[in-house]
Amino acid sequence: MKDKIETLKNEINQVNLTDALSVESFRIKYLGSKGLIKSLFSELKNIPNEEKREVGKFINDLRDFAQNKWKEAKEKLEENSGSHHNIDLSRPEDAIEIGARHPLSIVRSEIIDIFSRIGFTVSEGPEIEDDWHNFSALNFPPEHPARDMQDTFFIEKGEKEMALRTHTSSVQVRVMEHSKPPIRTISPGRVYRNEAISARAHCFFHQVEGLYIDKDVSFADLKQTLLYFAKELFGEKTKIRLRPSYFPFTEPSAEVDVSCTICNSKGCNVCKYTGWLEILGCGMVDPNVLESSGIDSKTYSGFAFGMGIERIAQLKYKVNDLRLYSENDVRFLKQFTGGF
Ligand code: PHE
Repeated sequence: MKDKIETLKNEINQVNLTDALSVESFRIKYLGSKGLIKSLFSELKNIPNEEKREVGKFINDLRDFAQNKWKEAKEKLEENSGSHHNIDLSRPEDAIEIGARHPLSIVRSEIIDIFSRIGFTVSEGPEIEDDWHNFSALNFPPEHPARDMQDTFFIEKGEKEMALRTHTSSVQVRVMEHSKPPIRTISPGRVYRNEAISARAHCFFHQVEGLYIDKDVSFADLKQTLLYFAKELFGEKTKIRLRPSYFPFTEPSAEVDVSCTICNSKGCNVCKYTGWLEILGCGMVDPNVLESSGIDSKTYSGFAFGMGIERIAQLKYKVNDLRLYSENDVRFLKQFTGGF
């Protein structure tokens, strides 16, 4: 009996436990309920009583030996397969990196917020526009330079020649065609111009344009609305200044400056020592535009304005290179917060 145990011990000693299969068949063969060690225990009853104690101890030792070998092999396997055995549950979790909103999205929602507080809705329209909505309905004469390939991206779509919209005034035409005054809406969106890309110009940028049409809308309403907007955006002390300008779709037209937010109008290199920063174009909607969209210009009048979101973001965040906004460099994008 002792010899048998000894032989079995040698055999067990020599078994190579390298994979899950060999570990499991080892367990079944030696340690299982029908295994060899179990059968040794049942043979115990056939040996003389005085030897039972000693042989029993031998078998116990053999069982411990086999069990340890099996346990060790199993643990090693689990360790290698990265199993849950060695996970430290008290270890702090790796922090989840939170993304940041794009600066243009932050500024856009701030502008939308400011105008929605005085009753403006948001309208959207297609980026691929026809001549009518981008130019003709807006009173652009046939020879206007914006209709030139040099300034506008034209594309062919079936029979029709289409353009990538050069401003979101096209959305305002669509709103006027489909709704009746009073109209109070802003149209944020991406616009395209055929410009060489540099720090100061890009072939696409973003605008928010506004339109207000009702009975008796005056230039004073326009000025007051823009003053409210400038104060909300840049602070209570902000002043505005209007300079005469020209747009085909508004008459009279003006360019709007805000007092320099960077130097408080004392003069700095951002405002070029003028104390003023140009932020938008505006004017009273030309009666021709109202009539083109089916609005009676004798009953109704209105104002419109348009601004570039990049320009506002540039003033807010002092970003001087337009290209940064579309390069998706996370080191740039991570720096902006707020505006949810
Ligand atoms: N559409 C003009 C632009 O893109 C901005 C503007 C809108 C000016 C409305 C006046 C009135 O530059």
